[in-house]
Amino acid sequence: MLIHIPNLLTPEEVALCRQRLEAADWIDGRATAGDQSAKVKHNLQVPEESTAARELGDIVLRGLARNALFSSAALPLRVYPPMFNRYDVGMTFNTHVDNAIRSVQGTRMRTDLSSTLFLSAPDEYDGGELVIEDTYGAQAVKLPAGDMILYPGTSLHRVNPVTRGSRWASFFWTQSMVADDAKRRLLFEMDMSIIQMRSIVPDDHASVLGLAGCYHNLMRMWCEV
Ligand code: NI
Repeated sequence: MLIHIPNLLTPEEVALCRQRLEAADWIDGRATAGDQSAKVKHNLQVPEESTAARELGDIVLRGLARNALFSSAALPLRVYPPMFNRYDVGMTFNTHVDNAIRSVQGTRMRTDLSSTLFLSAPDEYDGGELVIEDTYGAQAVKLPAGDMILYPGTSLHRVNPVTRGSRWASFFWTQSMVADDAKRRLLFEMDMSIIQMRSIVPDDHASVLGLAGCYHNLMRMWCEV
């Protein structure tokens, strides 16, 4: 399931990120790639341990913390510190799968969900689509600056070559409380239906209480915390 999260960052936050990234150091993106990925990856990244990456990462984490759609769709347990990349003309990242396990300050986490937060407007560059192999076929994604796509970490994906301009983004992984994509999807759809129902009938209506009870009891059954 691909989830488009509009306006994860405000235009002011995007502008601040862009301003800081203009002045940041950029290194070869292969620094964080696994063996298979390194062969097909050609882009630039801000070093993970740099002050710029940490400060900008905090802006992204604050955006995630206030976003109800992210919370409902990802059911996050741990979020990898956001990283920042850039594709100039000719740069690309061919088809690959992300490493299943990542280490954050000595703690291992599972990459259940991948995220790309766009920091360039679509008219600033040509090419550069994120192409994700979904159960419904390949989906090409190119979103407004400040918008994010959330997709299963299990998916094969690539970034098409940039043919004009430059594509800037933040990317990171999330370990979900619910490892299984199908179960997480069911909980998300149920949550969305309950929200919709609460706009039609009172919050204390028996149907809302019953469904909310089912939702939380499924969470108890399926969540690892
Ligand atoms: Ni990837």
